[in-house]
Amino acid sequence: MGKIMVIGSISTDFNVLTEKRPQIGETVRGTQFTTSFGGKGANQAVAAARLGADVRMVGTVGADEFGTLLIDNLEKNGINSSNVERVTHVGSGSAHITLVDNDNAIVFIPGANNAFDTARIEQLKPEIAEMDFVILQNEIPMPIVKQLIESCAALNVKVIYNPAPAESIEPTMIDQVTYFTPNESEFNVLFPDLTIEEGLKRYPNKLIITLGSEGVAYFDGEKVVNVASYKVPVLDTTGAGDTFNGGFAYALSKGADLTTSIRFGNLVAAISIQKYGAQGGMPTLAEVKENEYYEKKWNIE
Ligand code: RIB
Repeated sequence: MGKIMVIGSISTDFNVLTEKRPQIGETVRGTQFTTSFGGKGANQAVAAARLGADVRMVGTVGADEFGTLLIDNLEKNGINSSNVERVTHVGSGSAHITLVDNDNAIVFIPGANNAFDTARIEQLKPEIAEMDFVILQNEIPMPIVKQLIESCAALNVKVIYNPAPAESIEPTMIDQVTYFTPNESEFNVLFPDLTIEEGLKRYPNKLIITLGSEGVAYFDGEKVVNVASYKVPVLDTTGAGDTFNGGFAYALSKGADLTTSIRFGNLVAAISIQKYGAQGGMPTLAEVKENEYYEKKWNIE
């Protein structure tokens, strides 16, 4: 079984479905409100765990009821939550999501996700050393992300770094990770002076840019490879990138090559966006294999 540690955010999503986003000073009538489980870290952990990976989640929640439910959700998805800490001085993180025409806009309130203490990194090292992959994002403090990347590099453990939401980062952080997976808008924030092609060529077989319905692009050392996305009826794209990262990590941890792992991640995300909520549509491996687009030759078990 692929051993994956996800270190990142665990939050509650407050989802509003509406036909129109309000302008400043305007009130609009929405059509639906739900809460669901989210946080980019937790979403990536759930995506990989549903597929069957051995997943450990590392993060921080509050001592409130949301924290209890967030941990419970991880455990129900078969994720080891023994490294999820509870803090009392701040509430659990949340994300406030407006969904219009199947596309989301998010306000993220870190809350307890920001209470990640550097002392924990030292304690985590023996467990990190046993992992096939560590997955990181940007919803915990940047100094922690940086130290984790350095620790993983020193331990020779592969890292998938999904720089979401985009924040300026030091180039050495990219140098030290195995895969770097921004979406197009994150790429543009991180590399304002580079075209996509220039960026891809700078980081062969490492920079993997997700382009939504345009697929996923990387440079294989000789040419830019575009791995097409699957054309499916979309209901909610929230967490699509997280699902891709979880599926991508799972396939890599099973020994699939880069293109196959991207293709597999694309399919897992395509299945997920047909249901509401970041985690609502994340499929099991059996569901992926039953899908009309699954290719037996991928041989991902
Ligand atoms: O990537 C989607 C996630 O980002 C949501 O689940 C929400 O928690 C936000 O922070």
